[in-house]
Amino acid sequence: MMMQATLEKNTVTPFENTLIVPAGYTVENGQSIVGGVPVADLIATYGTPLYVLDGQTIREAARAYKQTLETEYKAKTLVVYACKANLNVGLCKLMAQEGIGLDVVSAGELYTAMQANFPANNIVFNGNNKSVTELEMALDYGVERIIVDNFDEIGRLAAVAKRLGKVANILLRVAPGIECHTHEYIKTGQNDSKFGFPLHQVKKAIAEIVNLHAETLCLKGIHGHIGSQIFELKAYEGLVDIFLTLANEVRSEFGVTFKDLDLGGGLGIAYTPDDDPQPIEVLMKQLANTVQSKAEALNYPLPRIFVEPGRSLIARAGMTLYTVGGRKVVEGVTPFISVDGGMGDNIRPALYQAVYSAVVANKLTQANTETVRVVGKYCESGDVLLRAFDCPTLEPNDTLLVFGTGAYNHAMSSNYNRIGRPAMVLVENGKHGLLVERESLAYLAANDRIPAWF
Ligand code: LLP
Repeated sequence: MMMQATLEKNTVTPFENTLIVPAGYTVENGQSIVGGVPVADLIATYGTPLYVLDGQTIREAARAYKQTLETEYKAKTLVVYACKANLNVGLCKLMAQEGIGLDVVSAGELYTAMQANFPANNIVFNGNNKSVTELEMALDYGVERIIVDNFDEIGRLAAVAKRLGKVANILLRVAPGIECHTHEYIKTGQNDSKFGFPLHQVKKAIAEIVNLHAETLCLKGIHGHIGSQIFELKAYEGLVDIFLTLANEVRSEFGVTFKDLDLGGGLGIAYTPDDDPQPIEVLMKQLANTVQSKAEALNYPLPRIFVEPGRSLIARAGMTLYTVGGRKVVEGVTPFISVDGGMGDNIRPALYQAVYSAVVANKLTQANTETVRVVGKYCESGDVLLRAFDCPTLEPNDTLLVFGTGAYNHAMSSNYNRIGRPAMVLVENGKHGLLVERESLAYLAANDRIPAWF
C-alpha cells in the first residue's frame, strides 16, 4: 500500500495535510485528536468498535456544494444528500442546518427524515421499485419530487395520486447510456442498468404521462446518475450534453419544458494516497458552466439543477476505531491481526476489494516494523479489513483507526453472527455526542418470536 511510504517518512503526523483524514483531525503529542476530542477519550466513553463522524468535514463539504453551485449558477439549485450513504435522525438535522436536502430511496429513509421534521420540499424520492406504501408516504408528506423509474411505476404512482386526490411532481429517471469507470467514461449506446428509462424509451414514457396521466402526474424534468466514486469529470459533461439535447427535443415534440435537471451524485473521494479526487468546487463549477453554455446554445430556459452527493459529503468525515485482539503467525504468510469488528461494520473490503488507510492511534510516534493482515471477528475467511497494513508492532489492546468510513459503512452494516452494530458519535468543536447507540444484546433478540405451537 502507498501509505507505507508516508508512514515511514513521517510517523508523527502520518496523514495530516492529505485528503484522507477528516478536516478536524490533528495529531498532538502523538495523540490522535478529532473535532477537538482525543480519540482515547472517545474510546473511554463509548468503547470500540466505534464510528466517529467529524462534523466540520461534513459541513465544509456541504458548504462547498451549496455555495459553489449558488455562486456559479444563474438559476435555482438544490443539493440533496443521498442518505443511503449514512443516515440517522441527527444527521438529517445536521443536513437541514446546512440547507442541504435529502435523496431518499425507501420508507425507512423517509421515515427517518420525518422523525427529524425534515422539510418535505427539500426531499426527493428515488428507487427502482417503490411500493404503493412508499409512494403514499411520499405523497402524504409532500416530498418535492418523486423520481419515476419505469413504466410500471408511472401507472402505480398515477393510481396512488388519484386515490389520495394529489398531484405528484415527478422527474423521469433516465439511463443516459454513459458508463463510468474510475478513470474513463464510455458511451455505451445501449444501457443495461436496472435503473431508469433507456434514452430510446423516454419519449414513449413522456407521451404516456402527458396523454394518460395529466391530472395526477406533473412532469418537472429528468434525472440521471452515472455512477459512484468517479474521478473523471468529463462524464458529467457527457450527461449534461445528452440531457439538454433530449430536453430540447422534448420541448419541440411535446411542448413540455423541463423545469428541473437532476444530475445525480458520484464524485469520488481519496481512500488512499493513490486516489486523486477532484474538489467539489471544481465539479460544481463545471456542472453550472456546462448547463449554462449548453442551455444558451439551445436557447433553452435554465432549469433548476439538483445534485445528489452521498460519499463526497460524508465519507471523509468518518473514522472507525477498533481494538486489537490477537495475532496469528504462520510461517510464510502475512501475519493475521484480529480486531473487534470487521465485515459486519464495514463490508466494502469484502464486497468491493475496497482499500482503506489506517493508523495505530496509540503508536503514532513509533516506526513501522511489520506488514500485517487486519481481519475481523466474523466467521468468514473473507472478513479482511486491511490486506497489507504497514504498522508498528501491533499488540492486544492497541487502537486501530481506519479513515474514510463515513459512507456506506454503517449504512451497509449487518448483524451477521449476532454481533451488534457499533455506536456512531459526532464530534465538533471539542464536543462529542451519540448519533446512534451501540446495539445491545437485548436489541439483537428483540424482534425474535416463538411460534405458538412450540
Ligand atoms: N443518486 C443516486 C440515484 C444513487 O443511486 C446514488 C448512489 C447517489 C445519488 C449517491 O452516489 P455517491 O455520491 O455516494 O457516489 N455501496 C457503494 C456505493 C453505491 C452507490 C449507489 N448509489 C459503495 O460502497 O461504494
